[in-house]
Amino acid sequence: MDSAPCSSWLQALFSLLALVWVLSCCGGVRGGTTPTKVSSFSKVEDAVNFHIYYGQTFKVIKNAIDGQSYLLLQNNSRIASRTKYCTSRIKSFVIPLSNYSVDTDYFPVSFLEILGLLESLKGITADSVASPCVLKLRQEGQIQILNRSDYQQIAQFSAHFYSDTDQQPACNFATFVPFVEDTPLQRAEWIKYIGAFANVEARANQVYAAVKENYLCMAKLTTNRTSFKPTVAWMKYDNGVWSFTKEAYQLKYVEDAGGENLDASINKNTYNVTNPDDVEELHAILCTVEVVIDETLTSDPTNYMLSTFIQNLNIEDRSCFSFLTNTSLWRYDKRIQNYTIDWYNGALAQPQLVLADLIEVLFPTGNYNMTYFRNLAKGEAPINIGPEMCDRNTSTTMDPTVVACG
Ligand SMILES: *[C@@H]1O[C@H](CO)[C@@H](O)[C@H](O)[C@H]1NC(C)=O
Ligand SMILES: *[C@@H]1O[C@H](CO)[C@@H](O)[C@H](O)[C@H]1NC(C)=O
Ligand SMILES: *[C@@H]1O[C@H](CO)[C@@H](O)[C@H](O)[C@H]1NC(C)=O
Ligand SMILES: *[C@@H]1O[C@H](CO)[C@@H](O)[C@H](O)[C@H]1NC(C)=O
Ligand SMILES: *[C@@H]1O[C@H](CO)[C@@H](O)[C@H](O)[C@H]1NC(C)=O
Ligand SMILES: *[C@@H]1O[C@H](CO)[C@@H](O)[C@H](O)[C@H]1NC(C)=O
Ligand SMILES: *[C@@H]1O[C@H](CO)[C@@H](O)[C@H](O)[C@H]1NC(C)=O
Ligand SMILES: *[C@@H]1O[C@H](CO)[C@@H](O)[C@H](O)[C@H]1NC(C)=O
Ligand SMILES: *[C@@H]1O[C@H](CO)[C@@H](O)[C@H](O)[C@H]1NC(C)=O
Repeated sequence: MDSAPCSSWLQALFSLLALVWVLSCCGGVRGGTTPTKVSSFSKVEDAVNFHIYYGQTFKVIKNAIDGQSYLLLQNNSRIASRTKYCTSRIKSFVIPLSNYSVDTDYFPVSFLEILGLLESLKGITADSVASPCVLKLRQEGQIQILNRSDYQQIAQFSAHFYSDTDQQPACNFATFVPFVEDTPLQRAEWIKYIGAFANVEARANQVYAAVKENYLCMAKLTTNRTSFKPTVAWMKYDNGVWSFTKEAYQLKYVEDAGGENLDASINKNTYNVTNPDDVEELHAILCTVEVVIDETLTSDPTNYMLSTFIQNLNIEDRSCFSFLTNTSLWRYDKRIQNYTIDWYNGALAQPQLVLADLIEVLFPTGNYNMTYFRNLAKGEAPINIGPEMCDRNTSTTMDPTVVACG
């Protein structure tokens, strides 16, 4: 971040705090009870797109993506009963949220499950959610389906979390955008953002620390590998054109798993399958990679098979493709719910599982079950997630999976 937006955010924060101070000085405590004092704090260590500031009876979350400040007021403080903000820069929320809804199109509900907050999730915008327990609560009628454009309907919830920053926000909307961060751990740290709305900072801190420790432990083991580093290409086909990914977090995963990314100068290009020069160049590059991860979007993952990849590739002579002879052609849609894939849900909250998968992709032991990756070259099919797979009490927290390391 450069200094200009940073100082304007500080300015906004200071004027907000001045306002809060003025309000709270003359308020006192409702009903003579002591207001909830913030008992635990989250400190943002790695993520760069949000900050949390703690006061006595309130918190301020600053979201760098939409430039908004969320003023979180403890429900038993005087200020909560008197204060309501909804401006282009500041919105207030009374916490802990008694209920909330999410725009399930992009929202990774796994963060909510790990924090144990599913019981107050009351609305979602679509049935397609890659979470067995959310599907179960939906089936039991505890969660209703919302029309994302019906703001009156959404207004009945204390907060509505969404990720589509192009959508016009209403007063109870809070942006949740872990996707914008550049590394897997930064994305996972957004658990602290949600935790602040529910006063479960202690849980958020504990989970993030465990995930980070496990992730870094595995990454450290792979950096000491002296063996050859397989080259990985993440590639996607769209409307006649292949391209290689430039997503920073994906390149970081490959590095941390002990692999090699395609050269950055190669990553810039797109390859039109009807242009012979492009095809020739793509052919040459693919002869140099050991692992291919096909991220082509599809509305029907179940029927996306090896033959689909080969058809899209449109290259007759595949004899030099070691990722095919060595059966290392993958997709990250092993866990799906209809066309929604868990890669955009569970994988965000648990990057240590993705890293463990990738290490197995690069250095197969045969003694490990993939969570997110399926091998197209071996004809593996996706697993369909359903409500019957919810095997825990939905009012409790879900524990992150710690992978054996070392
Ligand atoms: C504040 O929230 C807590 C936890 O949800 C709840 O038990 C309590 O009744 C709420 N207090 C008020 C004044 O709303
Ligand atoms: C969703 O809400 C909008 C705005 O109220 C309305 O125009 C639209 O018809 C609704 N869609 C459905 C499917 O109900
Ligand atoms: C959500 O909580 C608020 C505040 O407690 C309450 O007024 C509202 O009725 C609740 N909405 C639903 C759908 O439960
Ligand atoms: C990695 O290698 C370095 C330098 O050789 C060594 O100091 C370190 O202990 C090794 N770490 C692990 C986890 O093996
Ligand atoms: C690919 O190349 C063909 C033939 O040159 C052209 O018609 C088509 O528009 C190109 N596609 C894209 C997406 O550029
Ligand atoms: C093929 O995969 C094995 C591990 O399964 C690996 O040791 C070997 O280096 C790979 N060969 C090529 C050419 O990628
Ligand atoms: C999958 O999504 C499509 C499109 O929304 C829908 O028509 C279909 O019923 C869904 N299938 C299942 C099994 O949920
Ligand atoms: C992989 O999953 C299968 C089926 O659930 C199980 O029997 C096996 O023990 C698992 N293997 C490992 C290494 O976890
Ligand atoms: C689920 O957990 C809650 C909170 O710990 C507990 O009150 C409830 O009895 C549990 N439900 C079942 C079915 O075990």
